[in-house]
Amino acid sequence: MSSASSITSLYGSNLTISEESINDDIKTVSMDCSREERSFYHLSIDEVVRRVKLWHHTMPRVLPHYAVKCNNDLAVLKTLALLGTGFDCASRAEMSKVLSLGVPASRIIFAHPCKIASHIKYARSQGVSLMTFDSHEELKKLSKLYPEGDLVLRIRCDAESAQCQLGMKFGVQPYEARSLLQFAAQLNLRVVGVAFHVGSGCAEPQVFLRAIAAAKQVFLEAVEEGHSPSLLDIGGGFMGGMQDSLAEAAGYINTALEEHFPQSMGVTVIAEPGRYMVASAFTLVTPIINKRVTRIPVKEVISSNVALEMEVGKRSDDDGMVDTVMHFIDDGVYGSFNCVLYDHQVVKPTTLQSFAGSESITSVWGPTCDGLDQIIAAMMLPSSLSVGDWLVWEEMGAYTLAAAGNFNGFSLPGVKVFMHQHTRMYLEELLEQQSLSESGTEGSSGICSEDECCSSASSGTRPASPCNGESYDQQLLNALTTQCTVSKAQC
Ligand SMILES: Cc1ncc(COP(=O)(O)O)c(C=O)c1O
Repeated sequence: MSSASSITSLYGSNLTISEESINDDIKTVSMDCSREERSFYHLSIDEVVRRVKLWHHTMPRVLPHYAVKCNNDLAVLKTLALLGTGFDCASRAEMSKVLSLGVPASRIIFAHPCKIASHIKYARSQGVSLMTFDSHEELKKLSKLYPEGDLVLRIRCDAESAQCQLGMKFGVQPYEARSLLQFAAQLNLRVVGVAFHVGSGCAEPQVFLRAIAAAKQVFLEAVEEGHSPSLLDIGGGFMGGMQDSLAEAAGYINTALEEHFPQSMGVTVIAEPGRYMVASAFTLVTPIINKRVTRIPVKEVISSNVALEMEVGKRSDDDGMVDTVMHFIDDGVYGSFNCVLYDHQVVKPTTLQSFAGSESITSVWGPTCDGLDQIIAAMMLPSSLSVGDWLVWEEMGAYTLAAAGNFNGFSLPGVKVFMHQHTRMYLEELLEQQSLSESGTEGSSGICSEDECCSSASSGTRPASPCNGESYDQQLLNALTTQCTVSKAQC
């Protein structure tokens, strides 16, 4: 099998190689499935690849460990696995999903300070040793369940402003760290590093200066307590979307690393970006399934937009009523738009087609029978927009599908995967390199090494006659496409 067809097999029939714009891709799909009136996501693998490249360019010292919780779509995980990123997993299921792609356990951090006992046992059975903690009780648990684990102490350092604060739940104040470091030493546990998370969707990138300085102090205390820390985990907090502030945050991070963790210290620096990697890669496309024109009291038109408020004022009658349009779509706050409630996202659609003529004050609603299922309270949309037309929601990759449910029996949108030819060629090259470099070494996922699997192979790096009749590329591909079933015993 050539690597060209490997990429196609890797992503499955959902993959389209397209040189078109996202809007044109979307138009093609919407025309295909318009009879079914089903929402779908457009996933741009080009955007995921671009983000990873930009990350390495901007912060060459910081190894990204993608936060799976943000969006666990398989095509995203496979792409990141190929690109060589690490992964931040918070549960057994997340670890299992990542491991099933052939990612070595050493590239995973179990970054949950309050772990479920059975998940710790699972991590141990799979060799995922890097784990965060922030309490005495967690240390007691770990000393029983995973005494040889590599522990990372999570400290608290909150950004002044963030979309979702995390510090009230996780991370000890730096001044509380010493007692945990001492307790870990008493239990003969190994503290290998310090972690923090400044808050998801952080709007104060300077916070990294404070957080890295605080981590350095805890590093020094760890050494005083007999540990040998060598890992700094700067967490997430990197904005997603087109207007991300990676360059600004990177400026502060690189400066602080230089000052507190110079290269000569030999400290490994990792991060756990979620939002940054996926927000802009996903575009949600939803058909309008119903429309109702109605008059409502002005006080029910809730908007924080001044221009819209003025428009409502102009259009309202003396009796305090105003004409509005309600659009209903087949995805709502119990589905992808849970991000409006849980992640405090502000979403705003555009229309797939352009419309001439007047605009109406419009609200947008999800499909369930719950009045809470309102996605947009008020915005201006074309008056002629109607049932069967499509709304396009950009930057819907972070904390959308991953937290969505099927309340009231409504299914979630499928994901259509797109990439340009140049991205396909780039990923094929990586797949090729990966298969070459992994030949002769044991893949921790159960991918057999060349020596183990194919002792009769010729001396080249690639097996001439694979033991199970499959090329090495194919074995690697199997691991990435499905749970690897090739055990050493079978080989
Ligand atoms: C431990 C941990 N790491 C990483 C992330 C991802 O961070 P972000 O949403 O800022 O990308 C989160 C988000 O909640 C998290 O809890």
